[in-house]
Amino acid sequence: MRRVWIETYGCQMNVVDSETLMAILVATGGFVAADSVAEADIILLNTCSIRDNAEQRIWHRLDELGALKRRRKGMIIGLVGCMAERLREGILEQRPAVDIIAGPDSYRSLPLLVKEAEEGGRGINTELSKEETYAEISPVRLDGAGVSAFVSIMRGCNNFCSYCVVPYTRGRERSRDPETILREVGELFNAGYKEVTLLGQNVNSYSWNASGKGGRVYFPELLKQVAEVSPQLRVRFATSHPKDISDKLLETMAGMPNICRAIHLPAQSGSSRILEKMNRKYTREWYLDRIAAIRRAMPDCAISTDVIAGFCSETVEDHEATLSLMREVGYEFAFMFKYSERPDTVAAKAMPDDVPEEVKTARLTQIIDLQNELSLASNKRDVGKEFEILVEGASKRSVEKVFGRTSQNKVVVIPRSSKVGADHKIGDYVRVKITSCSSATLQGEEVI
Ligand code: SAH
Ligand code: SF4
Ligand code: F3S
Repeated sequence: MRRVWIETYGCQMNVVDSETLMAILVATGGFVAADSVAEADIILLNTCSIRDNAEQRIWHRLDELGALKRRRKGMIIGLVGCMAERLREGILEQRPAVDIIAGPDSYRSLPLLVKEAEEGGRGINTELSKEETYAEISPVRLDGAGVSAFVSIMRGCNNFCSYCVVPYTRGRERSRDPETILREVGELFNAGYKEVTLLGQNVNSYSWNASGKGGRVYFPELLKQVAEVSPQLRVRFATSHPKDISDKLLETMAGMPNICRAIHLPAQSGSSRILEKMNRKYTREWYLDRIAAIRRAMPDCAISTDVIAGFCSETVEDHEATLSLMREVGYEFAFMFKYSERPDTVAAKAMPDDVPEEVKTARLTQIIDLQNELSLASNKRDVGKEFEILVEGASKRSVEKVFGRTSQNKVVVIPRSSKVGADHKIGDYVRVKITSCSSATLQGEEVI
């Protein structure tokens, strides 16, 4: 039995991919999950290429692991995921200690790649696939709490936003068989899970040809079927591309209370000129129209975004347009980044990365400061209101408290002791009233 340790970097897709590749290794009968790096025979880094600093972290980690390998004979280092796909054999020129290189579509071959490495060679497979979705594989859940799980419903991306490396590292878009999705969700619910998040780079373009069984299945139908597994199961999804968030989807959400009232709708910029250069395929006006549609369908829906500061040719006016868009929408939450040029993307080839680093930093700081204000304002509006939360764990600050999330995906901290019966446990639904807040968290108490 070889013990395998996986470190996961990057997005939620990588989290579920790590669980999938652990399932593939365990199913061969020759591997178990290690409890720590110290006892591992095989160490896999599941990597991300989205920004340069994501890759820098991996290079540093490889240096540390290389030093460990010199002291520990027979140890195997594998680099998998997006960075493996982007750089392929090129990794070896910089870090010869790496034994395995596997891209996101080649995880079924990992047992073979390990064997090649154990025999003193190198296991390399970076082929991308048009079909692979790991459909029938039930991931080995590595997080432990057993309440919330990610479920991959599609892979790849066809959008080619000009700044983005994902279409190159994950290949073409393909959807997973809905039967296998529903089976996995049913198994999770039976195992005690209370929440699933359906994952894809652009879940709204989910499309499955169920030949002979009622035609095509699109995302709203899939979402409804997943939500019908049980009213006690919360359903979330990420990410939605603004260009195709449909009224049908919003109606489906509004009709089912267990589909969470939270939509992550990355705007990237508030300037239509920049959006066009980014190849996002929508304008500021289109985006705001979709926000209005969300508000009409679900007035209590939280909306979050991703924003990039300092994309090629961004002027002060473009930047101001981003700030004004953020104010106009009043986002609950945002992931905010400085533009990082990625080799071989359309932007890298055709658009100079001409916003100086210190200008990017200053703009990002303004964006973050504004979002903190908006998050605080949104949280203040919740004070005095009631929500149902799903308890996820102990509070980091106090053993007397637990935390959970609202349907809107906001964290609420409440006293551990219940007003009726035993203490609140992980996986319980609790009705709470919000008593106070900061920009990051809500404090509440149970209401009966
Ligand atoms: N598929 C998702 C997100 C994928 S990557 C979507 O389209 O929304 C997550 C976020 O990283 C993106 O939304 C974008 O804001 C950011 N990002 C992607 N490429 C980047 C780059 N080259 N520099 C800075 N941020 C980037
Ligand atoms: Fe990247 Fe755009 Fe695809 Fe998202 S939709 S993964 S930002 S190319
Ligand atoms: Fe995800 Fe990073 Fe790849 S964000 S898709 S792991 S480049």
